[in-house]
Amino acid sequence: MRLFYALWPDAQTQRDWHAATAPLVARWGGRRLPAASLHLTLHFLGEIPADRVGRLTALGEAAAAESISLRFDRLETWSKAGVACLRPSVEPPGLTRLVGYLGSGLALEGFAVEKRRFKAHVTLARHITAAEPALPLWPALEWQADTLSLVRSRLGPDGADYSVIGRWPLR
Ligand code: 2AM
Repeated sequence: MRLFYALWPDAQTQRDWHAATAPLVARWGGRRLPAASLHLTLHFLGEIPADRVGRLTALGEAAAAESISLRFDRLETWSKAGVACLRPSVEPPGLTRLVGYLGSGLALEGFAVEKRRFKAHVTLARHITAAEPALPLWPALEWQADTLSLVRSRLGPDGADYSVIGRWPLR
């Protein structure tokens, strides 16, 4: 199954992000993600055999990280990837640590780890038709992430369908 670790907001937070970014995202065309799909990926794992999922659950459970305060204050368009995303100007050290911890654990267990430097973002739209320099989001969206999630992605004709299969508190 196709899996990734993420910070997954509750439904109200997803709706708030969706509503607050609507006017800006509309400028760039493409296909907007539904509110219920909004999340921040920590590590994308790809296709994982069922008998390896237990190791990912153990790693998530062992993370024991603190909750992470994020301030999303800008919108960016990434023309190569064709996406518009919500970003924090400052990456909190707790987030960097959690991503680093999971990355080392994944490598130890022999999972493939993304080589590109982590850039915290929430994808808002795909296949955008216009791109421009970053825009500020005002007022910024403040959010405290208090769970780490392991999420399954099923690809369908209308985009991906996500289900959280593991959740561990960050406190
Ligand atoms: P994105 O939102 O920037 O596209 C599930 O696909 C999640 O994993 C998405 O949030 C996606 O990030 C992220 N992801 C990272 N690398 C990926 C890859 N190579 N293929 C698909 N999704 C990837």
